Amino acid sequence: RESGEDLWNRVTGTLALSVFTAVLGSLEFGYNIGVINAPQKERKHVNRSAGIKPIPTGTLTSLWSLSVAIFSIGGMLSSFCVGFVSEWLGRRKAMLINNLFAFIGGSMMGMSKLCRSFEMMILGRFIIGAYCGLASGLTPMYVGEIAPTSLRGALGTLHQLAIVTGILIAQILGLESLLGSEDLWPVLLGLTVVPTVLQMGLLPFCPESPRFLYIVRCQEHHAKSLRRLTGRQEVGDMLAEMKEEKRRMDMERKVSIPELFRSPLYRQPIVISILLQLSQQLSGVNAIFYYSTSIFMKAGVQSPVYATIGAGAVNCAFTVVSLFLIERMGRRTLHMLGLGGMCMCAVIMTIALALLDSVPGMSYISMLAIFGFVAFFEVGPGPIPWFFVAELFSQGPRPAAMAVAGCSNWTANFIIGMCFQYVADLCGPYVFLIFAALLLFFLIFTFFRVPETRGKTFDQIAANFHQHSAGGMMDMDIDMDMDKPSTEL
Ligand code: GLC
Repeated sequence: RESGEDLWNRVTGTLALSVFTAVLGSLEFGYNIGVINAPQKERKHVNRSAGIKPIPTGTLTSLWSLSVAIFSIGGMLSSFCVGFVSEWLGRRKAMLINNLFAFIGGSMMGMSKLCRSFEMMILGRFIIGAYCGLASGLTPMYVGEIAPTSLRGALGTLHQLAIVTGILIAQILGLESLLGSEDLWPVLLGLTVVPTVLQMGLLPFCPESPRFLYIVRCQEHHAKSLRRLTGRQEVGDMLAEMKEEKRRMDMERKVSIPELFRSPLYRQPIVISILLQLSQQLSGVNAIFYYSTSIFMKAGVQSPVYATIGAGAVNCAFTVVSLFLIERMGRRTLHMLGLGGMCMCAVIMTIALALLDSVPGMSYISMLAIFGFVAFFEVGPGPIPWFFVAELFSQGPRPAAMAVAGCSNWTANFIIGMCFQYVADLCGPYVFLIFAALLLFFLIFTFFRVPETRGKTFDQIAANFHQHSAGGMMDMDIDMDMDKPSTEL
């Protein structure tokens, strides 16, 4: 296997620029999660944007819930269109045009105070949610397609790294002493257009995905994109691999969403994709990110706002850890490690919260358990599901699969956002035991059902599933021999 240094030498200027530009979309996604996380602030925003006449508290709460929920609804709807949009416009143009949503949504939120219209803010949230839903599918798809095989995981993790960076930036800028103040909050919401403008300026310099050009569009100039991305003149081996993938694809019919579930070829990978997305959301991480301030408050932590930023910082740091481990330890191992660690932390957190009043020092233990929970999340369940779906499918079914997976993710996100507070009120300190049980289930599922994809080409991964579906039973130790050499890209 190549040493770490050799691996990173594969990153050419064009590849770095293209990945950087693509993940600006993820940064924007994270920023809007982070901004939405400050509930009290949002209520104030709604109230202030209503102008002079204050709104009654009950209506205010409903309006606030609506402006939180509508973000995920925008995401659910648009993520379902990822397949169609990415095939119709191509990956690059789809990302470019998607920026219009961000621009319109961001401007509406930023101007809502000036126009004294909370309707504008709610609509703006919906539109920015729609942007994020598309970005959450388009970015990992494009990055997965342009990355060399040996770096696909590491570059795929950058999508999550940009998301968590966005969350942290929003948390910090949202401090009352910075942009979270009475006068400046429209700037906080409107700032979301900055990465948009940057991405629009840079995308024209990035090549379209050569796999898309050749395998889907049958265009011959894909070789030029490939040379730019790899910095090599001699790309024959990669072209041969793509040709093989195209040959297989030409033998299959076009894959629609229902087909993914009907065909025995795709059923197994689509079930894995959906369950991985669910393992990310139903792990309960957003219960922390959406409600951290009140969770820290209940845990007796003195400055909950700073503890929340602490959680954001831990979140970033451990995504970087994952970035460096992913090509060494593989997706499966890291995902299991993350789920197992989160399960353990959820149990510790429950014990600490239950003993809060009777045993001293428990608020520190629960804070550490929350940090641990977030850290383990970023080791595996945070970054891996996003790019794993792109890995499990070859060019033909990939867009449909990304749409289904993305929509499952957003739906689960919406459910947690809407229900957590009610369930937490019902269960008190024991609420995290529900997540612990779910985490255990996903851990067992990953152990028995999720294959390793590190170092394999898309074609090899798909071929494994094909073999197994042809052989009837799916024996999930599918090719664990990761050390075999594989064709690059
Ligand atoms: C992942 C999740 C997102 C979550 C974030 C936390 O990107 O998709 O919902 O808020 O991780 O880091």
